[in-house]
Amino acid sequence: YKLLGLCFVLVVCYTLLRKASRTEMKVDKPTFLWGVASAAYQVEGACKDDGRGMSIWDTFSHTEGKTAHGHNGDVAVDFYHRYEADIAMMESLGIKMFRFSISWPRILPQGTGRVNKLGVQFYSKLIDALLAAGIEPHVTLYHWDLPQALQDKFGGWLSEKSIKAFAGYAEVCFKAFGDRVRYWTTFNEPWSFIFIGYGMGTHAPGRCSDRQVCVEGDSSKEPWVVTHNVLLAHAAAVESFRALVPHGNISINLNAEWSEPLTSSVLDKEAAQRNLDFILGIYADPIFLGDYPASVRERVPDLPEFTPEQAASLKGSADYFALNHYTSRYVSHDDASTPSQAATHIQRNGKAIGKQADSEWLVSVPWGFRKLLSYVHRRYGAPEIWVTENGCDAPGEDDAPFPAVLEDTFRVEFFQEYLAEAMKAVREDGVNIKGYFAWSILDNFEWADGYTKRFGIVYVDYKNGLLRHLKASAKYLAALFSAEPLA
Ligand code: NOJ
Repeated sequence: YKLLGLCFVLVVCYTLLRKASRTEMKVDKPTFLWGVASAAYQVEGACKDDGRGMSIWDTFSHTEGKTAHGHNGDVAVDFYHRYEADIAMMESLGIKMFRFSISWPRILPQGTGRVNKLGVQFYSKLIDALLAAGIEPHVTLYHWDLPQALQDKFGGWLSEKSIKAFAGYAEVCFKAFGDRVRYWTTFNEPWSFIFIGYGMGTHAPGRCSDRQVCVEGDSSKEPWVVTHNVLLAHAAAVESFRALVPHGNISINLNAEWSEPLTSSVLDKEAAQRNLDFILGIYADPIFLGDYPASVRERVPDLPEFTPEQAASLKGSADYFALNHYTSRYVSHDDASTPSQAATHIQRNGKAIGKQADSEWLVSVPWGFRKLLSYVHRRYGAPEIWVTENGCDAPGEDDAPFPAVLEDTFRVEFFQEYLAEAMKAVREDGVNIKGYFAWSILDNFEWADGYTKRFGIVYVDYKNGLLRHLKASAKYLAALFSAEPLA
């Protein structure tokens, strides 16, 4: 009995201790690996160094009125010259994976043809430095910086010629880095660069079929034509990947907002599904299920058809599901919202869906993350999921004084709450999450918002030599992921 009593006391103490450490962390140690993400144009700078060619983002950001305060990525946060120190910082935080993108015009200044050895050398050194620090490189081939030469030559993604050009660039990368890089993605957020770049016109190349103001003539078909070409370029690159890097894993980074029906009406439920179809399904369905979603086909007569060979090359062209996620919306049926007939809202009965972040489009809705993860799990056949981006900018952060700005409580809570929901998805819904990347390691060039929006877990002092300082969120994530796993 004494022994039993002692065991009982020990078990109670152990449970209480666990509970205490859990409350402190507010979330169990996640069961997946963690990493941080970045993208070439947003962090590298060195835009004229070592033979780099121009990209459509150089042109766009240097065009008056396109970015906040005319900001551009010429210097960015100078990752090109500071990567060694940045890797040392990641290592000290216990970061296990680093997702970065390769700048196509650094590798092929004209988009095709001559390979720039110095560009290849840079990424080769970067990969070696990561591996030496015990950090797994995850490489994205295209994070929006198309070589300007291809835009000029044949209209970039609007032309079918872009398919072969991308596959050629991908092949150079697979041959140069496939011996050391095991995880790849072809395109980052096709929805974003296509519908913002060709629909709204507020990203490069600044064409806007939505409003018909920034290009002459009828450009309304452009997002659909580009969607089709980008998907085929993905399939072509994956085909060469399978031959050249047989032991590697490849996917495509797809973004989605969770879409919650505004009301319980059938119409709103269908509209919420359509919103997902138009953002996520339009890319994920051809790749995981074999064709565009029926709801998109029915509403977009301009969407090109896949030939049977094309459909076959797309189906199964991802080894895992790479998901970027930030925010959620309520969705209602709306005939005026063309073509999806789905309108999005951030309020229901006057109550906000979540906490507003600094960027207008970003509202923190942790429960939406779990719902989206479970949806992907159910719809796409329980794939391995790598969350390749998740994070936020904190309200008022840009103007906040240093060093108080380092106490980024909004972001700490964002990660805490989103990760708790991700763990519910794992434990209660059986979702297979393998890895999670915080966006972003450093404050950086946030596209049309320039440097006015900060998504880093590390603060970059733009006024003072681009010095890096850890924010509370970096310390929080490091502590969370290094904690002993809990039962
Ligand atoms: C998605 C994009 O991939 C990334 O480039 C961007 O900075 C973040 N979202 C935040 O907007």
